[in-house]
Amino acid sequence: MTMVEVPGEFTVPRRSWGDDEVFDREMQQIFRHCWQYVAHESEIPEPGDYVLRKMGRDQVIVVRDESGQVRVHLNTCRHRGVPLCRADSGNASHFRCSYHGWTYANTGELRGVTYQADVYGKGGLDKKKLPLFSPAQVDSELGLIFATWDPEAPSLRDYLGDILWYLQLIFGKHPNGMEVVGTPVRNIVKANWKTEGENLSGDGYHTTITHSSAFDLGLFATQKDLVKLADDVAPKFTGRTVDAGNGHTMRIQRLPLRLQGNHYFGYPKEMWAGFDRMLSPEQQQAMSCLSVGHGSVFPNMSFIENFKTNVDGPDLHARYARITVRYPIDATTSEQLWFFLAPKGADPEWARLSRLAYLRTNGPSGLFEIDDTENFVGISEASVGDVSRTLPVIIEGGKHHPEAPPELGWPGNVVDGDKTERTIRAFHRRWSELMDLPAGDAAGTGAAR
Ligand code: FES
Ligand SMILES: [Fe+2]
Repeated sequence: MTMVEVPGEFTVPRRSWGDDEVFDREMQQIFRHCWQYVAHESEIPEPGDYVLRKMGRDQVIVVRDESGQVRVHLNTCRHRGVPLCRADSGNASHFRCSYHGWTYANTGELRGVTYQADVYGKGGLDKKKLPLFSPAQVDSELGLIFATWDPEAPSLRDYLGDILWYLQLIFGKHPNGMEVVGTPVRNIVKANWKTEGENLSGDGYHTTITHSSAFDLGLFATQKDLVKLADDVAPKFTGRTVDAGNGHTMRIQRLPLRLQGNHYFGYPKEMWAGFDRMLSPEQQQAMSCLSVGHGSVFPNMSFIENFKTNVDGPDLHARYARITVRYPIDATTSEQLWFFLAPKGADPEWARLSRLAYLRTNGPSGLFEIDDTENFVGISEASVGDVSRTLPVIIEGGKHHPEAPPELGWPGNVVDGDKTERTIRAFHRRWSELMDLPAGDAAGTGAAR
C-alpha cells in the first residue's frame, strides 16, 4: 500500500473509492459485522409477506412468519445454492427450490426433500440440520428492520445509540406510525457505495454549488416564500451537525425565521399536536422551523426529511421523508434503493403534495439527486487512475466550528455550523476503525472533530 504525503491531519486515500482490494476488505470487515437496514415493517404487514433485499452482496428474504415474527434468510437453497425466491415481493408460507424441489417454511426450516428415501436412503439426511442460513440477529426500531451476521454485535439499540433520538424526529413523530408508499425504486449507480452516504451524512457545504440550477428553478424556498410563513425572517439559514458515534451522523438546518413556539412547517396544523405528544421538548425544538434534516446510519443507510414550497401551486407547502440504502456491487458500482415514507392516515391532499415534492427534489428522478449522482460517479471515475488513486481527499472543513451549548439537550457531539465535513470525518473514523488498515492507508485519527 502506498504511503502518501497528506496535508492536514484528516485525509483518506482516494483508492478507497475504487480499489478492489479495499472493497473486498470492506465486505469482510464492515458488512459481515455491522447492522444493516433491510426493510420497513409496513412493507410486510401480514403473515407470509416478504420482500427481497441485500445485506452487503448477499441477497436475503425478509419475511413475516405465521406467528408474526420477522425473519431474514439468505436467499439460497442449502442443497446446491439456487436462489429460492425470484420475486421482489409477495406472500408465501413456503419457498420451494426450482432445481430439485427442496421446500422450506418461511421460518427457514427445511420441510420437504423430494425423493428423500431414494436419494439419501432411510435416515440419510436430517432436515433439522439444514434450515436456511440466517443472520445472527434481527431487530427493529421505529418500524425500521435491521439485521447483522455477527452474533457478537451489540444489540440494535446499542448499535444505533444516539442516532435513535434523531431517527425519532423523522420516523417516530407520527402517532399512527409511517408506511412505505409504493415499491422502493432501484437503480444502479457507477459509484462506490460510500459516496452517497458521505454526502447525506451532513454535507451542507455542497448545496448551493451542486444544486445551483435547483435554486434557478425555484425548488428551494426563497426569501419571498419565507416572509409568507412568518412575520420575521432572520438573516440566514443556520444549521448544526451531529456526530452520534459509531459512524452515525445527522445534519439539521433551520429555516431563517424568528418565531415563538413550535412550528412544524410543511405539515398541516392538525398534525402538530400529535408531534408534540410523540417528541420530547428538546426534539420538538429540533424540528421547529426545520428546513432539512438528513443523516446516515453506518454503513449504508441514509435518511432525509425535506421541505418544499409552492409544490403544486403558490403557497402549497409539503414535507417528505425518504430512506435510501446502497448495496455494494463492486468497487465502482452500487445499487441504490429508494423508500418514500408517509404518515399513516395522512390527509390525502397533503399526502399527494408530499409525494410530488419528493419526486421533484429528493426522489430518484428529482433534480437534487441527478446533480448529486454526477458528483458521486465522478469521484469513483477519477479515483482509479494510477496517479489519482495515490492522492488523498481532504475532509478538513468545519474544524473551527464551536460546540453547541449543552443546554440544547441534543445527544451526541453537536456543533453549530453546517458547512462542514465533520460528519464525513465521523463516517471515515468508524470506517477506518473497522477496516484496520496499515497506518499509511487509514484515515487520520480525527482527534479534532
Ligand atoms: S439446489 Fe435447491 S433443491 Fe437442489
Ligand atoms: Fe446534494
